[in-house]
Amino acid sequence: VYRYDPDSGCNPRLDTFHVDLDDCGPMVLDALFWIKNKVDSTLTFRRSCREGVCGSCAMTLDGTNWLACTRFISDIGASATIYPLANMRIIKDLVPDLTHVFAQYAAIEPWLHTKTPTPEKERLQSPEERSQLDGYYECILCFCCTSGCPSHWWNGNRFLGPAVLLQAWRWLTDSRDEATGDRLDQLEDPFRLYRCHTILNCTRTCPKGLNPGKAIAEIKKAIIERES
Ligand code: SF4
Ligand code: F3S
Ligand code: FES
Repeated sequence: VYRYDPDSGCNPRLDTFHVDLDDCGPMVLDALFWIKNKVDSTLTFRRSCREGVCGSCAMTLDGTNWLACTRFISDIGASATIYPLANMRIIKDLVPDLTHVFAQYAAIEPWLHTKTPTPEKERLQSPEERSQLDGYYECILCFCCTSGCPSHWWNGNRFLGPAVLLQAWRWLTDSRDEATGDRLDQLEDPFRLYRCHTILNCTRTCPKGLNPGKAIAEIKKAIIERES
């Protein structure tokens, strides 16, 4: 397990823990709790829902980005390595600093933009229009995909990365949103969008089974279509 304590003044290190599996729940998150409760209370990690819906416990388990609460201990190696998400500043142990990626998320203005007068009741969608959001609304912003994207490693200050671009498409494809042109203007940029080189690590690693690579392709297609 990767350990880093910024207050110690020491370099990061790897600690080895032996977990009694007869005394521990089945998931990797259970093992981390077992270590924290029984061996080393200073071990630090994020978690909230332990159901794969909050995205807090994303980390690198045996080389793959995943959620610690949805990965069975039996599905990783008997001597597994556990690291924090790659390419993030580390606050402590397994806790990455998500300030930058959430600022990138805020930059796409992830809320409904409307110009027409607000209706008396809700803005309606047909079942078909609603189904356009499938595969996108389920994103839990765990950033497993962005952490695994080489383009974001090299240009993360300007390339938005797969998680934020999938979210951008989620708003572009929402039939109720009325800012499609403005949103595409913001994305049409050599760095923000086009630093994606279709490497597809993002799609391979998404623990929710989503396809950020497809969402990015849809944005590129929408830009081409509006210009033709
Ligand atoms: Fe996590 Fe998948 Fe959303 Fe990326 S697309 S942030 S991997 S849920
Ligand atoms: Fe990165 Fe996914 Fe594109 S891994 S380069 S965002 S297809
Ligand atoms: Fe919420 Fe793992 S604790 S996704």
